[in-house]
Amino acid sequence: MADRSALTRRGLFRGIGSATVVASCTRTHPGTATNTPSTDAALSPGEIGPSPSRLSFELNGKAVQVDVEPRTTLLDALRVDLDTTGTKKVCDRGACSACTVLVDGVQRNSCMMLAHDVEGRTVTTVEGLADDGHLTVLQRKFVEHDALQCGFCTSGMLMSCSALLQRTAGRGSALSKEEVQDAIKGNLCRCGTYPHVIAAVLDASKERA
Ligand code: FES
Ligand code: FES
Repeated sequence: MADRSALTRRGLFRGIGSATVVASCTRTHPGTATNTPSTDAALSPGEIGPSPSRLSFELNGKAVQVDVEPRTTLLDALRVDLDTTGTKKVCDRGACSACTVLVDGVQRNSCMMLAHDVEGRTVTTVEGLADDGHLTVLQRKFVEHDALQCGFCTSGMLMSCSALLQRTAGRGSALSKEEVQDAIKGNLCRCGTYPHVIAAVLDASKERA
């Protein structure tokens, strides 16, 4: 469930004049009352921008800090500022889910979030799945079932399927095909790997059960 109190890219531009956007914005996520002082003049407490402001969050188990403008999406912060390029940019408008990451364990399209929305939160990208070079069961099953071709959708697929496996962990039974289809319904694959992806996830869930 999206955090409605936080800024979203779509919400930011809806109903707010672009001049206001350029001028400044306020980070509203809980726990961010004290922001790193910006170089911008005449900002009220809690306001940031338009210059880069300090953002702190946990990325793949490690605390990171980066200075980004308020308009920067989480996707661009990951790929450009933090060199975490496993997360792919394809449509950049919320239509393909190639950019899926987990924010506090919930799958999100990182192109549709502002980077400052993850202040103090935990973000997991595809780079954070393997443990010290050891692939997860799901990653191994993707390889075994040939669940990728060009690979552009693959990291997003893996994150959506990882979220599914995480939220159904411990229930003691394997997933159904319908559950997997539902989990990846937003992930577009131009290469048509869906049957292989579904087979990989079902196999992973059987091994888990
Ligand atoms: S790149 Fe984010 S949904 Fe397509
Ligand atoms: S493997 Fe090419 S888009 Fe899915």
